[in-house]
Amino acid sequence: MTKAPVAPPDVLNGWAGFSGPLGDDPYGLYADVREEAPVRPVVLADGRPAWIVTGYAEGRQALLDPRLVKSIPRALAARPEIVAPGFAHPLFGRHMLASDGEDHARLRRLLGGTFSTARMAAIRPRVQALVDGLLDELERLPEGEPVDLVSNFTLPLPITVIFELLGVPIDDRGRLRAWFETIFTDPVAPADGPGGRAAADAMYAYLGDLIASKRSAPSDDLLSAMAASVDDDCLDEEELLSTAWLLIVAGHDTTVNLLGNGLVALFRHPDQLARLRADLSLVPQAVEEFLRYDGPVQHTTFRMTSEPVTIGGVDIPAHEQVLVVTAAANRDPGHFGEPDRLDIARSDNHHIAFGHGIHFCLGAPLARLEGDIAFTSLLSRFPGLRPAVALDHIHWTYRIVLRGLVALPVWLR
Ligand code: HEM
Repeated sequence: MTKAPVAPPDVLNGWAGFSGPLGDDPYGLYADVREEAPVRPVVLADGRPAWIVTGYAEGRQALLDPRLVKSIPRALAARPEIVAPGFAHPLFGRHMLASDGEDHARLRRLLGGTFSTARMAAIRPRVQALVDGLLDELERLPEGEPVDLVSNFTLPLPITVIFELLGVPIDDRGRLRAWFETIFTDPVAPADGPGGRAAADAMYAYLGDLIASKRSAPSDDLLSAMAASVDDDCLDEEELLSTAWLLIVAGHDTTVNLLGNGLVALFRHPDQLARLRADLSLVPQAVEEFLRYDGPVQHTTFRMTSEPVTIGGVDIPAHEQVLVVTAAANRDPGHFGEPDRLDIARSDNHHIAFGHGIHFCLGAPLARLEGDIAFTSLLSRFPGLRPAVALDHIHWTYRIVLRGLVALPVWLR
């Protein structure tokens, strides 16, 4: 007798990571799907067809294959119906994560030094000061009421870090955040709706003006350095604006969710929380385990097969969209022992939460730095930190490729 499919396409309609079928805990569904077929076709929430890869070995194979291309213009020319319409906006389609080959290498090289070990060591004191400032503010909040750690800690930290790095003036940050929220309000098709498109236009215009002002009065920040690269003919204006957008997006909710998802994982595993509190030198290893166990990025961004490709023995025709569900791959029992167990001291933790291959996350050193300082400082400042609601009542959101918390009410003391 043939076994009924565990996840027919209507169930997978939530696959692109949005509300609905994935619910608060997608890992059971991931396991069923991976066990049945680690490479398979699905229909995404907005009706676009795609292939998803949920196995670890298959995921790494896919991410190393140069025939899985990222150029949006190329995909639009070959098969427009697989591309979310909003991606045609120049804000979204001209950065390194939407480029291949030489263009990708050139755009990535330009930012090569930005996240180097030396740079990270140089900004460590500033990140520590930001964390300490946020923790001081938490201490000043009235006792006897739960505190939301998302709005008071996990969100403001990464946002401030990336805006400072880029050189976005403090007074403009609220506006940028609001446009960003509008663009992602309709999670199925970013920037497709009139609101999203208007916000993308506004952001594009704003970034253009900001870069012009950096050009006339450069300062010691990333946007000034990137503006100088345009003048040196290393990239064009559209690539510059799109890269600024990529850094703002990538520097926002990814690290926010690393902190939030990691805290919930610890609250769900009191033995691991106690172990970490007892030995804070384990924090860097714990951060890697948070990334593996419940990483912020559930699946990689858009890729298209430029020709027929075989992944994990499955033939995928040309011009198909392929998404690697990294969060599922990171729980693959074929690679990780006891994958559903949180082990903050796990060794050989070769997760793919930061991707794999040439598009491996450029900002990983920054995310790791922020995670290291944030968890170490928070846990040592508030030894009594604990959730203020039943963990089953915590609400999760799925935005584009991300999974994270809406709020995290806690008792600090
Ligand atoms: C915990 C936090 C983060 C996670 C889990 C994460 C995850 C990822 C993943 C999975 C990719 C590859 C996507 C794909 O192949 O489709 C990626 C790429 C990228 N990330 Fe991150 N990211 C994080 C934080 C950051 C930060 C803080 C920055 C910079 C400010 C950043 C900048 C980038 C850039 C520029 C790329 C594109 C690299 C390329 O195309 O060569 N990320 N990230």
